[in-house]
Amino acid sequence: MKNIALIILFILISLPAIASPQEIFYPIEAQNGMVVTSEPIATQIGINILKLGGNAIDAAVAVGFAMAVTYPRAGNIGGGGFMLIHSAKTGQVVTIDYRETAPALAHRDMFLNKAGEVDNQLSRFSHLAAGVPGTVAGLALALEKYGSLSLAEVLAPAIQLAEQGFVVTPKLSREFKNLSPTPTIFLKPDGNFYEAGDILIQTYLAKTLKLIAKQGIKAFYQGEIAELIVKEMQAHGGLISKTDLAHYKAVIRKPVHGTYRGYDIYSMSPPSSGGVHIVQMLNMLENDDIATSGHNSATTIHIMTEAMKRAYADRSKYLGDPDFVTIPDLTSKNYAAQLRAKFNLSQATTSEDILPGTPPTYESDETTHYSVVDKAGNAVSNTYTLNFSYGSRKVVQGAGFLLNNEMDDFSAKPGVPNAYGLIGGTANAIEPNKRMLSSMSPTIVLKDGKAFLVTGSPGGSRIITTTLQVIMNVIDHQMNLQTAVNAVRIHHQWLPDELRVEKGLNLDTMQLLKARGHRIVIKNPMGAASSILVDKNIFYGAADPRRGGLALGF
Ligand code: GLY
Repeated sequence: MKNIALIILFILISLPAIASPQEIFYPIEAQNGMVVTSEPIATQIGINILKLGGNAIDAAVAVGFAMAVTYPRAGNIGGGGFMLIHSAKTGQVVTIDYRETAPALAHRDMFLNKAGEVDNQLSRFSHLAAGVPGTVAGLALALEKYGSLSLAEVLAPAIQLAEQGFVVTPKLSREFKNLSPTPTIFLKPDGNFYEAGDILIQTYLAKTLKLIAKQGIKAFYQGEIAELIVKEMQAHGGLISKTDLAHYKAVIRKPVHGTYRGYDIYSMSPPSSGGVHIVQMLNMLENDDIATSGHNSATTIHIMTEAMKRAYADRSKYLGDPDFVTIPDLTSKNYAAQLRAKFNLSQATTSEDILPGTPPTYESDETTHYSVVDKAGNAVSNTYTLNFSYGSRKVVQGAGFLLNNEMDDFSAKPGVPNAYGLIGGTANAIEPNKRMLSSMSPTIVLKDGKAFLVTGSPGGSRIITTTLQVIMNVIDHQMNLQTAVNAVRIHHQWLPDELRVEKGLNLDTMQLLKARGHRIVIKNPMGAASSILVDKNIFYGAADPRRGGLALGF
């Protein structure tokens, strides 16, 4: 009897935390490495690099360049982003900040019309909307500091895809047709639309990538590509100059660090607001028994919503580029306790009671996140973007790539919401050479000093809450990774004062939440959390069904 009890105990202990027998969805498993992205060809490229002996950073950089070819809605060389890297050797987590910067000629009121109102067309769909691109510098810096392969080696798959082409999927064909007007680089040479099954060849982009492979990032920031960017700007009233490009620098920053129920949470520091608010919300929630109150129960959602509102209210006031503004410490447990003390457990606090304002919402589907872990335990969590899907829709002629419209992430007029309905204060006002505030939240959770969960998401303002929920689903609700990623999501961003939920939250729960004063709206799915979990030397990968990516391991 005693032996049987011991055997059962042994089985329970050795069962991965991620393999609860009641679950419907399962992540894929592997022993040597894992890559998860929102685009299958890019995932395969990452895996090929790992199989050839490259480390997670090599694979991540190759994926980043490949997605600039195969996933033009968000993969890019004309945008920017953030990468978190956990080095298994040093145990450290660092971030590469390759966020775009405002051109030197940018100024606070550049998007206001004569009546003093924000001109969204200018801030989103003109050449003025583009910040100085950071992706090429960021990926190259990550590779130089932490990779093992050369820039030419990690660019080779992307060059081949651009030069020889790849098969257009039904989804990509639909996206191109919906762009109106569709940039000519996404039309066939005869001017017709690409149909599913056609081969998309990107000759100019191939030439650009080859220049970078041959000459390094100088080609992009000082050479032939820089010249084409400046020419494009001069022809269409844009501001990015030769000097802006020559001065652009990707920066290594310390990540935001917090703890949650014994796990170490590392996420992106300012100029992203993501890490600060993930840690701030986890701090507010840590002393509640979330596991017992249950996943997506009315009680749990109520408490989470109260935390979300307070974090997003702080975001609007305090967050901006740390090289320009001083950001108070919002991640202390003491501050979280003060905020938590204000929660009323039976009644939703109205957003007006937290701070005033009534901005509108906006739906957008941009940005992309991917995760990579190698056999040695090195982990990369990368989120990069053009801001909107296909960015500003403006292409650098002769260079074959899209420009971002990241300038819209500044507060064009403090107090007036940006495209995600997010209000910003003067901390995020436009200033020359400043980085615009972001929500991108690439995150790495460590357990006993080792990479445990690598996650993040696209989704504008919903990135932060999506990432929070994946973390809580794994840690609090002990879900396996695929269930954690698939689970129905909620979101509140302080203003507008509405609790946004995905279709699938049950009606009883919604009734209970309404009774506590929450205004519930059901909207489009949120995020695409390409995630990896490592437990007992097994890698678990989960692509997010919301965007149909691919997890591959070997
Ligand atoms: N452009 C979206 C973000 O950076 O959060």
